[in-house]
Amino acid sequence: MCGIVGYIGQRDTVPILINGLKRLEYRGYDSAGIAILNGEISIVRRLGKLKGLEDALLDGALPGLVGIGHTRWATHGRPSEENAHPHTDCSGDLAIVHNGIIENFLALREGLQSRGHIFKSETDTEVISHLIEEKYDGNLLEAVRAAIQEVKGSFAIAVISRHEPDRIIAARKDSPLVLGLGNGENFIASDIPAILGCTRSVILLDNDELAEVTCDGVRILTIDDLVVEREVFNVHWDDEAAEKCGYEDFMLKEIYEQPVAIRETIRSRFQDGKVVLENSSHLTDDIVKAVGKIFIVACGTSYHAGLVGKSVIENWARIPVEIDIASEFRYRNPVIDKNTLVVAISQSGETADTLASLREARARGAKVMAVSNVVGSSITREADGTIYTHAGPEIGVAATKTLVSQMAAIYTLALYLAQVRDTMPQAEIDVLASELKDLPKKVSGLLVDIATIEECAREFSDCKSFLFLGRGIGVPVAMEGALKLKEISYIHAEGYAAGEMKHGPIALLERSVPVVVVATKGHTYEKVISNIQEVKARDSYVIAVATEGDEEIKQHADYVFYVPETSEFLSAIPAVIPLQLLAYCIAKIRGCNVDQPRNLAKSVTVE
Ligand code: F6R
Repeated sequence: MCGIVGYIGQRDTVPILINGLKRLEYRGYDSAGIAILNGEISIVRRLGKLKGLEDALLDGALPGLVGIGHTRWATHGRPSEENAHPHTDCSGDLAIVHNGIIENFLALREGLQSRGHIFKSETDTEVISHLIEEKYDGNLLEAVRAAIQEVKGSFAIAVISRHEPDRIIAARKDSPLVLGLGNGENFIASDIPAILGCTRSVILLDNDELAEVTCDGVRILTIDDLVVEREVFNVHWDDEAAEKCGYEDFMLKEIYEQPVAIRETIRSRFQDGKVVLENSSHLTDDIVKAVGKIFIVACGTSYHAGLVGKSVIENWARIPVEIDIASEFRYRNPVIDKNTLVVAISQSGETADTLASLREARARGAKVMAVSNVVGSSITREADGTIYTHAGPEIGVAATKTLVSQMAAIYTLALYLAQVRDTMPQAEIDVLASELKDLPKKVSGLLVDIATIEECAREFSDCKSFLFLGRGIGVPVAMEGALKLKEISYIHAEGYAAGEMKHGPIALLERSVPVVVVATKGHTYEKVISNIQEVKARDSYVIAVATEGDEEIKQHADYVFYVPETSEFLSAIPAVIPLQLLAYCIAKIRGCNVDQPRNLAKSVTVE
C-alpha cells in the first residue's frame, strides 16, 4: 500500500531513491514520484509504473543530496500525475510522501480551505502538507509533530523542507517505516529490501514515533517528545534474495524457492523428539493445557493457510478452532476469554485488518500468537509471541513461498500443541515430523518437469471461468488455486468444497468451464471421484491433482498433475504447487504481469 523512501548524505540522491523504489514497487505501482532538495524543492512525478519516472529522470539533471520518493497504490483520488506523491504545501517549500489513510481528511481539508489553503490534488495526503505549513514556526520536527496530532488514521510519512535542508523528518502510526544507518548518510523506507543495497544496519520506528534524520545520525522521539534509544539490528538477508537471479519473474523465482522456504521454516523446530517453538515463552505448558478455543484470523492466501491450520489443530491437538477472515473478526464481537488463543497469520505482518483483529483479541484477554515472514513487523511486535516463517523476502505480489512456509509453521504449531496436551502418541508425532522434513525434497521434484502443466495452460488459457474443488485438506488448496488464477490471470475462478458443488455451482458447468479437482489420496478420495463423475456428466474438462501411482484417476480426468505421496494433512503443500504453476503459466500466456497484477498491492495496510 504505497512505498516510501528517503535519503540524506553525500551521494547523488536520484539513483538511490529509484533503486529503493524498485524494491518497493510491489507495494503499489499506479504512479511514482520523487522530490529533491537542492536550494529549491524539485518534484518529478509520473502516472504508471516506476519505469516512466525512471525514464523521465534519465538525463540526470536533478542533482541533490537530500530527497524523498514514493510509489503509489491509490486510495483517495484516482491514479494521475496530480495525485502522485510527493505533495507540497501552498508555498512549495516542503514536500511529503505518505503511506496510509487519513480518515478525517475531508474535515481537515474543509478547514484548511476555509483558511485559504489551495489544494492541487484529490489525495488525503495533501492535508498533512498544508497542516505542517500552518504549524511551521522555524522548526520542522515540531510542525510535523503538531500536524500528526490532528490527523486520524494510519500513516508513515517523510517530509523535507527548503528551510531545513539538513534533515528529513519521518513519523509513523500503523504503517511501517524503517531507518537505515550508513556512514555519513542515512535512509528511510517502508520496508527493509528498499535499502538493503546501501546498508544492513536498520532501526524499526514504532507507532507514534518521529525521527529526525540527518547525515550524521537519527534521533527518535515519541509523539510526547521523549527521546527513544532503539536497538540497531543487522539484516542477514542476502541482497540477491531481492533480485530475480535469472528468472523471468519474481513469482517464478519464488515458486522455485519453495523447497528452501519450507526447509528454513522447520529447521531446528524438531529436536530430539521435541517440537520447539522459539518466541513462545507466553505459551507455558499450563497455558497450552488450559486453552479452550483457538481463533485463527488472516486474509487472502494467509486465510487459506489458516484453514489448513484449523484441520490439523483440531485433528492433532483436539482443540476447537474457529477461523475468521480478519476484516470480519474485528467487527463481529467474538466470544473470547483468557483461555482463548488467537493465531494471527500474515506474511507481511502489516495487514491492517489482521493487526486490528490482534488488538481486539488482546483487549479481550486472549493470548495472541503471530505467524509472519517479516521480522519486526507491526503484528509481530504487538503479538505475545511469533512463529517466524523463514521464506526470505517475497517480492511477487501473489503469495507463493510464504504460503507454504505458513503451512509448515502451522503444522509445527499443531504438533507442538498436540505434544504438550498429549493428544497424540509420540510415535505419530515423530512420523509426521519426519514427513514434514521430507517435503522440501518432494516439492523440489515437482518443479523439475512442468510440461503437463504448460500444455494444460495452453489448452485452457482462453477460458472465461474455472471451478476448483476439493474435500477436507483439499478445500483450502482448491480455494488457493482459484485465488492465484484470478489474481494473476484475471480469469474468474471459484474454489469450493466439492460436496457443495451440487448445491449451486454445478449450474455453471459446461464444456467451456474447466474444473480443477484436488484428488490426492485421503479418507474422502472415493467421494471426490464421485464428484469428478458428476462434473464429467456435465461435459466439463477435469484437471486433477492426484497422488503419484494413482492410475485410476486417468480414466476420469483430462489432465493429471501428480504429486508425491505424503500424510493426508501434509498433502496441502505438494498439492498447491501445480496450481500455483498452472495460474502462472496461464497468466504468462495471456500476457499478464504476474509480479504486479492490476489493482493489487503486496502489503495491505489500509482497511
Ligand atoms: C494473494 C495474496 C493476498 C495476501 C493477503 C494477506 O496472493 O498475497 O491475498 O495473502 O493480502 O496478506 P498478509 O499475509 O501479508 O497478511
